[in-house]
Amino acid sequence: MDEDSRDERYELVIVSNRLPVDRVAGDDGEASWRPSPGGLVAALEPVMRQEDGVWIGWAGVADEVIEPFEADGISLIPVPLSEQEIEEYYEGFSNDTLWPLYHDVIAPPSYHREWWDAYLRVNRRFADAAARASAPGAVVWVHDYQLQLVPALLREARPDLVIGFFNHIPFPPYGIYSQLPWRRQIIDGLLGADVIGFQRVADAGNFSRAVRRLKGFETRGPIIEVPIESDDPASGSHRHVTSNKHGGLVRTVLARQFPISIDTQKYQDLASRPEIQERARQIREDLGNPKTIMLGVDRLDYTKGIGHRLKAFGELLAEDKISVDDVTLVQVASPSRERVETYRLLRDEIELTVGRINGDYSSISHTAIAYLHHGYPREEMVALYLAADVMLVTALRDGMNLVAKEYVASRVDEDGVLVLSEFAGASDELRQALLINPHDIEGLKEAMLAAIAMPRRERARRMRALRKRVITNDVARWSASFLDALTRSAHGDHPLQNP
Ligand code: F6P
Repeated sequence: MDEDSRDERYELVIVSNRLPVDRVAGDDGEASWRPSPGGLVAALEPVMRQEDGVWIGWAGVADEVIEPFEADGISLIPVPLSEQEIEEYYEGFSNDTLWPLYHDVIAPPSYHREWWDAYLRVNRRFADAAARASAPGAVVWVHDYQLQLVPALLREARPDLVIGFFNHIPFPPYGIYSQLPWRRQIIDGLLGADVIGFQRVADAGNFSRAVRRLKGFETRGPIIEVPIESDDPASGSHRHVTSNKHGGLVRTVLARQFPISIDTQKYQDLASRPEIQERARQIREDLGNPKTIMLGVDRLDYTKGIGHRLKAFGELLAEDKISVDDVTLVQVASPSRERVETYRLLRDEIELTVGRINGDYSSISHTAIAYLHHGYPREEMVALYLAADVMLVTALRDGMNLVAKEYVASRVDEDGVLVLSEFAGASDELRQALLINPHDIEGLKEAMLAAIAMPRRERARRMRALRKRVITNDVARWSASFLDALTRSAHGDHPLQNP
């Protein structure tokens, strides 16, 4: 990497905690790269393939300074994190404070002042990297809860930039959010953006309420009026500065929903490939050709309601409503945040439950639950989606849940039943799924039985309607509508209406 390319400036800059690839050390000590986990990367990758920009993020390893590089045609700028920052900023504040707080305190959040200090320090580092990589007037799109301070830090350094922020996870109701000792700083950080995107209408509403309660700023629908001081760098740029009804100078920020999606065409293409369809048949056969295959696919996370799903499945077996000869549950639980205590405990709990159910109900020829603690390539996932008669998404709280959309996109045969939690953002759009409340175990069991027994015509009718949604609202549309709102905001035009 020579000096010139290191100093390159880009018109579009994506900033997220993780890069789309993680650096991994092999057994031989050789470093290699593998795709990073999670829906954020899956959604942003196709966006970046189409745009000529740069992606700034962490490479998933400690204490390594890695020069900017290109992977699969995408320019990447790694931001280094020390071992202590991984503990305090990533595992600590991001995933043991904000993650549980933003997911309805399903697990108790921990509040530590050293973690906050690390969060601030690392957010500064990301903001500095973005400021250096941005051409004059560039569009910078910051992602997710790990980087909520970046918009304001960036605006301070570079008032010429157009800054967007998208929150991939829920934004909690004020009664929960207000627990956060640094609640005002986070709101100030986010309000540095011109456009703040959320998954659901309710998330955007929760955010606006927090702004009104904590800052006393006025909101008009999705528009937030942020008063500006004359010494504010923003006052020099006429971009968003107008006077409010009291005659004061305000900068306007748009905060509303932009529900994320997937690269639908890619899933359809994969699902249409003969070797993937053959693999789906093979999976069925390897499972002993049960009448019904149920599938769960999740990061091993307490927000996903895996335990609730297993409980319902176990009870159906115990009550003889289903038998292992007819029904198999495949549960893919990809490893996640394994050094965070709550995740360690969850893994033990889930694996104990799986072991008990299998011990109690499996036979020599049929295993009740095929439990797989791995991540798989997309091809294998699509084969699993095609093999699964029933897809179980039982999240207790989830920003969107892209697995639900991937399942629907993969069912080019217009078959399969989606059982979907109303606490996942996807339920706002995928209304023809069997919608469930995962806390209601009896209701969940009934939905599972209804899914197993659903006639082919009804399955096709529902799946057709679901597919229409996912085909129309794909990830290209999501990013285009966000970037369009951002560009319009750069011209002082905040669209009030929904897309
Ligand atoms: O979508 C939520 C999210 O936290 C992303 O920000 C993240 O990249 C993904 O899930 C996976 O989590 P992690 O990066 O902590 O492994």
